Amino acid sequence: MAFSNLAFLLFLFCSFDLSSSYLTSLSKGSSLSAQDIIVSQNGIFSAGFFEVGDNAYCLAVWYTEKADSENTPSVVWSANRDQPLNGKYSKLSLSHTANLELVDAGQFQIWSSRTESHEHVELYLNNDGNLVLHELQGTVLWQSFDCPTDTLLPGQLLTRQTQLVSRRSESNRSSGFYKLLFDSNNVLTLLYDGPDVSSTYWPVPWLVSWQAGRFNYNSSRVAVLNSLGEFSSSDNYTIRTSDYGLALQRRLRIDSDGNLRVYSQDLSRAKWYVSWQAITDSCNIHGICGPNSLCSFDPKNGRKCSCLPWYRVKNQSDWSYGCEPAFTPTCNKSESTFLELHNVELYGYDNHFVENHTYSYCENLCIEDCNCRGFQYTFDEGSGKFQCYTKIQLHNGEHSPKLKGVTYLRVPRTKSFSSTRESVKKDDPVCYVHIHRDYLGKQVSRFSYFFLWFAVALGAFEMACILVVWCFLMRSNSKSGIDQHAYQLVKLGFRKFTYSELKKATKGFSQEIGRGAGGIVLLVYEYMENGSLADCLSSNNTLDWSKMYNIALGTARGLAYLHEECLEWILHCDIKPQNILLDSNYEPKVSDFGLSKLLNRDNLKDSKFSMIRGTRGYMAPEWIFNLPITSKVDVYSYGIVLLEMITGKSATADIQAVNGVDTYDGRLITFVREKRRVASWAEKSIDPAIGTDYDDVNKMKILVTVALDCVEEDKDARPTMSQVVEMLQRHETDP
Ligand SMILES: *[C@@H]1O[C@H](CO)[C@@H](O)[C@H](O)[C@H]1NC(C)=O
Ligand SMILES: *[C@@H]1O[C@H](CO)[C@@H](O)[C@H](O)[C@H]1NC(C)=O
Ligand SMILES: *[C@@H]1O[C@H](CO)[C@@H](O)[C@H](O)[C@H]1NC(C)=O
Ligand SMILES: *[C@@H]1O[C@H](CO)[C@@H](O)[C@H](O)[C@H]1NC(C)=O
Ligand SMILES: *[C@@H]1O[C@H](CO)[C@@H](O)[C@H](O)[C@H]1NC(C)=O
Ligand SMILES: *[C@@H]1O[C@H](CO)[C@@H](O)[C@H](O)[C@H]1NC(C)=O
Repeated sequence: MAFSNLAFLLFLFCSFDLSSSYLTSLSKGSSLSAQDIIVSQNGIFSAGFFEVGDNAYCLAVWYTEKADSENTPSVVWSANRDQPLNGKYSKLSLSHTANLELVDAGQFQIWSSRTESHEHVELYLNNDGNLVLHELQGTVLWQSFDCPTDTLLPGQLLTRQTQLVSRRSESNRSSGFYKLLFDSNNVLTLLYDGPDVSSTYWPVPWLVSWQAGRFNYNSSRVAVLNSLGEFSSSDNYTIRTSDYGLALQRRLRIDSDGNLRVYSQDLSRAKWYVSWQAITDSCNIHGICGPNSLCSFDPKNGRKCSCLPWYRVKNQSDWSYGCEPAFTPTCNKSESTFLELHNVELYGYDNHFVENHTYSYCENLCIEDCNCRGFQYTFDEGSGKFQCYTKIQLHNGEHSPKLKGVTYLRVPRTKSFSSTRESVKKDDPVCYVHIHRDYLGKQVSRFSYFFLWFAVALGAFEMACILVVWCFLMRSNSKSGIDQHAYQLVKLGFRKFTYSELKKATKGFSQEIGRGAGGIVLLVYEYMENGSLADCLSSNNTLDWSKMYNIALGTARGLAYLHEECLEWILHCDIKPQNILLDSNYEPKVSDFGLSKLLNRDNLKDSKFSMIRGTRGYMAPEWIFNLPITSKVDVYSYGIVLLEMITGKSATADIQAVNGVDTYDGRLITFVREKRRVASWAEKSIDPAIGTDYDDVNKMKILVTVALDCVEEDKDARPTMSQVVEMLQRHETDP
């Protein structure tokens, strides 16, 4: 018999797999081969050779029960994760001098416990999952709890000598880039230790330890998870899992995505679930998207990696490699320019930091330095100064509306954007704006004037669909109630109507519904059950406060997306109730991009408007006074629309001419401002036609405040569209 040399074999489990044999311990002079498994007395843990690949094995401890899904962790410790063994002829032997040796195919020693004893010793698997080599009197010579891999089991200590190291990926169990350890300041930290760079990302790196609630003067450096679900560390960091006290089994693991999680098994043993995790926004984990990339996170769809503009992905199936430049970097100053990226910050790798200097000083600092890849120039409200950080490497990039930073990326000065086309991947979550522009450019030379307008109308419609559907379906949260089906629509593309189909449907364009400024236009729209907001406002069917709130929030989200999520600005320039369409659930869609404008961020000064755009009554003062046009013009128009909704009055009723342009004299704004000046203004509804209850009063107050902020004369005093979204969202759930 292959294992006749085993000193004792307490019992054999009933098994369908007749090639496996189950034992409880190993003693001097005996060995374990790939078929043998040591089982803990309670049956929960098993130890032996665990198959990690084709005929590749690791000496490991795992949960005996089969995992219920791929994500469920089962291996809790392994000796040779980076050097798996051949399944045949490999064995683990306990020598006569009490050394445990792992030998590959009978020849190479891969691992050993480096122990020695002349007493009787045995290798035993405890009920807590600890594989222990001990003398029969009790002295422990070696134990797996002293050399953790990526997991801490309840009662197992993380000490100054040990660390947890994640696996490389979900499918590759060898050592990865993420570590949990005590740093030299006695603080328990998560570290990204990548092939080229390394940095700490937990606790939040820009806080000093006491700000992060850590105490760095206890040098005992121990951390432990107990069986009830409390994890505590000697730096005074303590957490309790969401299921404190309730679960059957638990483990703390540093996962291949760099997050630290506690997994629990429910009392029925049916499943494992995450009962705690260290990091909620997974974009805060360093290195997760690799260098030269941007990470964006939304709670519904999770994390998404994309390359910075002018960079291309290195390995689509493994983002840890990040992106590489799709251009030849140059030191020639006149060949570089800067691309402005809003709501983008790149953490670390600054070689200069200066405060209270102008933008051009900061730009110059970067352009004079051959190694500078970009810079961040941001107004810091805390210090009241502009701050300038120049970057020598581009790591830990994050793109999120909550980030106030503006990053200027150094890119080649090239006339055409088309050279970057190949670097913008199809599934790049950033924007599709370039493609549209190129499409328009080509049409000019090929079509006659009439067909140009046809193409522009269709192009605008298609872009409107892409942006609108994208904004409202992908970006709005689950509240919008739009389902997977609509998402499929986005993925599958749009229905194209042929000219003859349209001709047939409209009976040869016999009926003229309306005219555009340039004559009769052909526009195809998705059918919107509730028509436009203008229809709603003019009909007697008044909107209640909740519907209004929803429309205000939805419209703000759409505009915020256009203004800020895209890497180039898109100004709508014609926000008015006629262009806000309502579906059957009163979910708004912004339409009519006929006047919209793409602003080229790398050359803002050159983006001139050849004509005034918009509709009288809704146009911001900048248009009239010939001031720089920014996204704040849409904010102003949005504010006017809110005022119309709130008061039921029309903004176009009182028009007067200023500088030869018809414009609204501001009577509506004054009306609402005056109303609000009265202390008890909120007690009576601003629009007597709309009833109010307690909840409505709050909604009304917020809408009035937001609306008045948006119509400030000074564009800098107006909030951005994403700030509007934040204000509305913050109060949405308030009682
Ligand atoms: C697993 O990752 C390691 C380290 O990156 C690599 O050397 C090894 O080839 C990978 N194994 C597989 C099967 O991909
Ligand atoms: C240091 O931490 C250990 C473990 O948490 C604790 O037992 C000990 O009391 C702490 N010492 C001090 C001085 O806080
Ligand atoms: C540790 O945390 C507890 C509870 O938060 C606090 O009362 C205590 O003062 C902290 N200890 C140290 C040494 O910071
Ligand atoms: C991309 O990464 C995957 C997974 O790590 C690897 O198998 C593959 O060989 C890589 N491809 C290239 C071109 O490096
Ligand atoms: C820098 O680039 C400009 C424009 O491409 C070129 O005219 C000039 O000669 C270059 N200067 C150097 C030092 O290469
Ligand atoms: C910024 O610099 C200007 C001129 O150099 C100086 O007058 C001003 O006081 C500085 N502001 C702050 C907040 O230091």
